[in-house]
Amino acid sequence: MSPFLLTRTLPEDATDAALRADVLRGLTGTPKTLPPKWFYDAHGSDLFERITELPEYYPTRAEREILVGRSAEIASVTGARTLVELGSGSSEKTRHLIEALTGLHTYVPVDVSESALTQAGQALIAERPGLQVHALIADFTAALALPRTPGPRLVAFLGGTIGNLPPVERAAFLGSIRGLLSPGDALLLGTDLVKDEEVLVRAYDDAAGVTAAFDKNVLTVVNRELGADFDPDAFDHVALWDARNEWIEMRLRSRADQTVKVPALGLAVEFAAGEELRTEISAKFRRDSVSAELDAAGLSLSHWWTDSEGRFALSLSTCR
Ligand code: SAH
Ligand code: TRP
Repeated sequence: MSPFLLTRTLPEDATDAALRADVLRGLTGTPKTLPPKWFYDAHGSDLFERITELPEYYPTRAEREILVGRSAEIASVTGARTLVELGSGSSEKTRHLIEALTGLHTYVPVDVSESALTQAGQALIAERPGLQVHALIADFTAALALPRTPGPRLVAFLGGTIGNLPPVERAAFLGSIRGLLSPGDALLLGTDLVKDEEVLVRAYDDAAGVTAAFDKNVLTVVNRELGADFDPDAFDHVALWDARNEWIEMRLRSRADQTVKVPALGLAVEFAAGEELRTEISAKFRRDSVSAELDAAGLSLSHWWTDSEGRFALSLSTCR
């Protein structure tokens, strides 16, 4: 059997139908929104990799520090033979975990970005001969059909990506992860922590403008896929700390009164000068909130590790 399998769990045109539905709902609602999974075409995935290297974007470095220090312990506690990673992207940090999991049989990276999955998968099989890599092009918020592979199963969800889901979706999502786990399986969850507002805002509005380009890439995706005529330069990237909800909110603010056409949807969308289109939230957590949310989904937190500066946490939990 080939050591690298790529399975598309959605029909080829599902992306198109889902994008249309999301854009129609998002641009006709108040306030206007666009859902974040559409950031990640090949260019968006490359831009995200550049974000992870920015001096202001600490989450990747903080999480890598924890993985470097704790992978051996994670491996001995879980004894995982199958590692499923949701929103795996480049799988770059995951290498530390894969190396430590000496009994690993199959790695199942799951992502909407085919380009990220292909690049990461090819690199991994070259590094770890014998490891099966079964990549899934799938939306992790939809029901996942995982390949039949040996247990114990470890599901990893890194990068603080869970914070990109609004609270109601997050609860449903954790419940569906719980459904993927049998006794003896575990969830490894990366969560960014509440901290100084300035540090947080800078992580989502860097001096070099890479995050701004990433945020605006969603407009380019809508232009390409639906024939829209968004001018990315007619919007400013804004990152705000919402202290009540304890999340960072990313928005694109219209610089002028303008009308954007989306021919594939027969839409003409009016933007007033200063009007903001909401693109993404990135919630920040505390130990108590993570533990409570896991608990509500039927999961019990067993380990909690932070980086040396207490900025980011990795937690391990098991099902009850
Ligand atoms: N885990 C990596 C990447 C985080 S960026 C890291 O920690 O650096 C978020 C990743 O999730 C991207 O690769 C993006 O393509 C993917 N993603 C976002 N929404 C998704 C969804 N609904 N379903 C599957 N993958 C998604
Ligand atoms: N999961 C990442 C995070 O919340 C995604 C991300 C980083 C992001 N920077 C961004 C999403 C800027 C939109 C815009 O940290």
